[in-house]
Amino acid sequence: MCGIGAYIGDKDASSILTSIIRDLEYRGYDSCGIATYSDGKINCKKDIGKVSDIDFSSLKGNVGIAHTRWATHGIVNFENSHPHSDCDKKMYLVHNGIIENADELRNILAGHEFTSKTDSEVIIHLIEDFVNAGDTVEDAFVKCLKLLEGAYAIVLIHEEKLYVARKGSPLVLGVGNNEMFVASDSVPIQKYTRNIIFLEEGDYGVLWKDNYKINNLDSVDVDREIKILNNNIDEISKGSFEHFMLKEIYEQPKTIERAFLGRISDDKVKFGGLNISEDVLKKIKRIILIGCGTSWHAGIVGGYLFEDISKIQTKVEYASEFRYKNPVIDENDLVIVLSQSGETADSIAAIKEAKSKGAKVIGIVNGVGSTISRMVDGGIYLHAGSEIGVASTKTFSSHLVVLYLLSVYLGSLKGTVRDPAKMLNELQEIPALISGFLENNNIEGVSSKYFDCDNALYLGRDYNFPIALEGALKLKEISYIHAEGYPAAEMKHGPIALIDKNMPVIVIAPEGRLYPKIMSNISEVKSRKGKVIVITTNGLEDGFDEVIKIPKVSEYLMPLISVVPVQLLSYYIAKKRGCDVDRPRNLAKSVTVE
Ligand code: M6R
Repeated sequence: MCGIGAYIGDKDASSILTSIIRDLEYRGYDSCGIATYSDGKINCKKDIGKVSDIDFSSLKGNVGIAHTRWATHGIVNFENSHPHSDCDKKMYLVHNGIIENADELRNILAGHEFTSKTDSEVIIHLIEDFVNAGDTVEDAFVKCLKLLEGAYAIVLIHEEKLYVARKGSPLVLGVGNNEMFVASDSVPIQKYTRNIIFLEEGDYGVLWKDNYKINNLDSVDVDREIKILNNNIDEISKGSFEHFMLKEIYEQPKTIERAFLGRISDDKVKFGGLNISEDVLKKIKRIILIGCGTSWHAGIVGGYLFEDISKIQTKVEYASEFRYKNPVIDENDLVIVLSQSGETADSIAAIKEAKSKGAKVIGIVNGVGSTISRMVDGGIYLHAGSEIGVASTKTFSSHLVVLYLLSVYLGSLKGTVRDPAKMLNELQEIPALISGFLENNNIEGVSSKYFDCDNALYLGRDYNFPIALEGALKLKEISYIHAEGYPAAEMKHGPIALIDKNMPVIVIAPEGRLYPKIMSNISEVKSRKGKVIVITTNGLEDGFDEVIKIPKVSEYLMPLISVVPVQLLSYYIAKKRGCDVDRPRNLAKSVTVE
């Protein structure tokens, strides 16, 4: 699960490649490297660390390949970082994906000296083997691809030519004027050209600076459309914020608005790209929401919305588990896949499973032109702009907006929503309420009292149970504090045993139908001397260790508000612990391995 890039043209390759892999660091940032061709040989520089830690400017030449790594095979060290070369250092290669039969192939490559423990290095030695036996580099490349099991996006450099291939991992080409670009996604390329080709499964290609060809593995020419991408590429900058995560939390009033803008008209919801007729949607008997991590949490909120507002039976599934259940799906099911990146391997596998069983699949994604956006029957973009912090924040709230709109839309079709105008007006008030909360809250102060805890428990009920899960995930991923999220009433069925005077318990308890019940749950914590941090719309009660007051809105919109304090709390705690907030250890922004 890595980011790869390549360039061929007349410009300085290393500076373009540095920019490409810097933009791709969301895919991994354990180590990185670049190889360029000049004066008849390939020079390579690589090391552990982030792109900003290494100066690549000494690499000369107008053609090169680049890589930023998230380790899957082999520890994080110099040897395992990419690019990898053949024994004679005449060809170098970068790879994203997992070669499942790497060990088997390694065994047949007798006489080759391997310098790394990676599955990727096997590929370059295999190509070398075919070349040594008399094949052209292109024929050797294709023969090698046919032997690989698993997933790959590959770029190989040999002299002034690049060889690319894709199966199971994304790879896009940018077609410039006398220059070609390659990257794991289109965003880093769009600074240079808007003419983008998305390689399809099983494609391979050869690139020259002024030409290219794309074939399938039978060496038959395939026609891949050049798409002109006109979407806004946000300037990837932190502005006046110390971290991307904080900037993205503060962007939420704007990104929430962008998620509903143009989708509400005459008190009705309309979507441009669903591609499923209203007649078909009216017959939907069940919704299956699928995602991973934070997107899965958004799915759980969606489950409450679709049952409560649209009165449609809904299941929420982990993408990684879905297909192993051999799920029972029929034409009355609507499968909705949630993903920020649109590249998550587990979610892609789940879509394949659902489609193979004839289900209609909708994607709600942020990544424009991403793999998921291109494989679903219909889709809704979040339009949240690039999310750089590894911890998802603004895309979570945008997912909630789209799910809310969809629940009102389906409910209106089914006649279960009586007053859509009221519901949609309430949604449009949310950005201002969040802005007000962001301007004035006590969360940094609260975090300074709890930042050195070892464990934390998050509790919520009903619509706020998923926010308890999300709060716990945010805290663990960026501050490395062990945290659990539970439905508040479940605490007494086990986790209550953990509570003592050192355990902060963050309770999301806005006023609403379950308010008295969650107050009883809080009493159970207080009786065991737990520290109670309550996030509530009613800041008047005494007896809590901390009260974080949030604005009051309808219960079905409350997660949009209540998630903001849990995001901020984890941010400030992680910052106080000196953690790398935007790039937490062991993680990557986009998880493209199963
Ligand atoms: O790109 P996706 O939304 O499909 O990614 C899913 C998860 O990997 C992601 O939400 C992950 O859990 C985040 N790091 C959470 O902050």
